[in-house]
Amino acid sequence: MTKIKAVYPGSFDPVTLGHVDLIKRGSRIFDELVVGVGDNLRKGALFSPEERVEFIKHAVKGIKNVKVVPFSSLLVEFARKESAHVILKGLRAVSDFDYELQMSLINRRMATKLETVFMMPSEEFSFVSSSLIKEIASHRGNVSSMVPDEVQEALVERLSQGKPTRSRKKKQ
Ligand code: PNS
Repeated sequence: MTKIKAVYPGSFDPVTLGHVDLIKRGSRIFDELVVGVGDNLRKGALFSPEERVEFIKHAVKGIKNVKVVPFSSLLVEFARKESAHVILKGLRAVSDFDYELQMSLINRRMATKLETVFMMPSEEFSFVSSSLIKEIASHRGNVSSMVPDEVQEALVERLSQGKPTRSRKKKQ
């Protein structure tokens, strides 16, 4: 029987526990899963591609059929290079659907045999996004239940660079 290989693309800036949950689910469905770390031209990245790849590698250490690589081409080209049959995407809520439908159809126009398969992360993470994580962390909020530990530490370090410590008003 043909082994089914999937690519799971994203900008992962940074990877969240929702992404990790989806990678684990994907690794149980597909024979091989390649996590592709790309750049979304509509968003600026806080972490470099190398940093983002390392965070994911660390988070999925021990899952034998998962590999993590950066890519900078069209997604369909990346999938072709990896000889993948499937693009795996996560759907958290109906609000993700419009954009993901458009992407899957445009990718199908360019690569007719490549199927996009959607999976839902655990409801525990259905509201978690990398953008919200960065927003919370930039205000020094606690994101420890939503990202891997080393991401939490890196966020604190990166976002505190150049930021003066918030001074408390002295009581008169
Ligand atoms: O985490 P994101 O922001 O949803 O990831 C987006 C990503 C990197 C998967 C997407 O921007 C992408 O596929 N980029 C590669 C260029 C491409 O193929 N775009 C789709 C056709 S216009």
